Amino acid sequence: MKVLNYGSLNYDYVYQVDHILVGGETLASFSMEMHLGGKGLNQSIALAKAGIPVYHAGTIGEDGQLFLDACNQYGVNSDFIRQIPGKSGHTIIQVDQQAQNCIMLFGGSNHRQTKEQIDAVISHFEKGDIVLLQNEVNDLDYIIDAAFAKGMMIVLNPSPYNSSLEKCDLSKVSCFILNEIEGEQMTGEKEGNAILDCLLKKYPNAKVVLTLGVAGSYYQEGKKRIHQPVYEVKAVDTTAAGDTFTGYFISGIVRGEKIEQILERCAKASAITVSREGAADSIPGLDEVESV
Ligand code: RIB
Repeated sequence: MKVLNYGSLNYDYVYQVDHILVGGETLASFSMEMHLGGKGLNQSIALAKAGIPVYHAGTIGEDGQLFLDACNQYGVNSDFIRQIPGKSGHTIIQVDQQAQNCIMLFGGSNHRQTKEQIDAVISHFEKGDIVLLQNEVNDLDYIIDAAFAKGMMIVLNPSPYNSSLEKCDLSKVSCFILNEIEGEQMTGEKEGNAILDCLLKKYPNAKVVLTLGVAGSYYQEGKKRIHQPVYEVKAVDTTAAGDTFTGYFISGIVRGEKIEQILERCAKASAITVSREGAADSIPGLDEVESV
């Protein structure tokens, strides 16, 4: 079973601030650092650090060499990353004193996938392979259709949630991995169990992993629901915590482990990520996670 992650690669410009800015406000930041990120890249690196071979597909700009270096460094296969003229994607991330963040995205080359590129990538995979997707690249609906037609298992992290997801045939998704904000955007419900009830009604065959911040996470498969509490740590930066969870979750599925064991490892891995600054670089390796 091969794992393909078709997703974004971003340069994250991270500003430490006293509080998240409000409209019209000007505020000096305490610091600024550039980290490698993008939900796609973070999740590929989490998979690789969890010990699972992963192919990353996506599009970078002419300034994108650092992404290729990172793939090389962490063992992510970058054969399906296309480099084109123009700018890569980037983000402006504010992180406040409580480690909360807010992210502004510039799609850049992430929004320049072509249908030919998508077809060419999918042609390298087979029935039963896994494709992991987020919502930071263009033509997500086309990728879902192409992967489904191939018989791939589609895992979707519907993040960030926006109208382009409404164009997608989400009944083709085998597993949703989402947080409470995306859960509310998808269902209109605010509370964890209500979100899960609604998703079960809408997509009865899909498995769901719902993360709820300090309230832990839930796994749902049909009527079965399993809860996993969080590992408490001093949070420094929550960026990429969800991506760490996603990568580690899929690694456990690929290994055929029990869901309870997978969720516990995901909770440990994402706790380590929030205790560090940055995105891709803050994701722990399997040995470190297992030592908790
Ligand atoms: O999930 C965190 C990621 O979201 C950041 O690395 C940023 O690039 C945005 O895509």
